[in-house]
Amino acid sequence: MEKYNITSEVAVYQDDELSAEDRELVELAKKATQQSYSPYSHFQVGAALRLEDGTIVTGSNQENASYPLALCAERTALFHAQHEHPDKNVVALAIAAYANGHFYPEPISPCGACRQVMLEVEDRYKRPMRVLLYGTSGTHVISTVRDLLPFQFISESLKK
Ligand code: THU
Repeated sequence: MEKYNITSEVAVYQDDELSAEDRELVELAKKATQQSYSPYSHFQVGAALRLEDGTIVTGSNQENASYPLALCAERTALFHAQHEHPDKNVVALAIAAYANGHFYPEPISPCGACRQVMLEVEDRYKRPMRVLLYGTSGTHVISTVRDLLPFQFISESLKK
């Protein structure tokens, strides 16, 4: 029997420690929470991503009376970005959540489905995507989606 550990590195930044670009992305993710359509959960999620040429695309969660049809903020932004700019990779994606009249102290982490979609974007462009998880106590920065989703199932997995 053999054992091994998988580690992920997370850096926690205060607002004044973030680069101007990252701060802008976080602010836009926070702003995007206000465009959420979430009459069922009342949990407003915003996402903002930056493409390699600096273009920013935002998204928010979009719910439905048929609950499972809801689409998370991350996927709303990612799919739109890939539709509008299929030739540009995503360098960073920021996420924020607002509920009960405030942003949460601890950051929310993307759901499993969104992690899989984020992974596909890294795989598609063969470039890492930085993930910025905003909370009022700090922004948690992960330098690649691979650190959020160990044991990846990607295009290469289909060829084995
Ligand atoms: N949600 C997101 O938009 N992103 C996440 O990372 C987690 C969950 C949405 C889905 C649903 O509209 C609401 O938050 C409550 O789960």
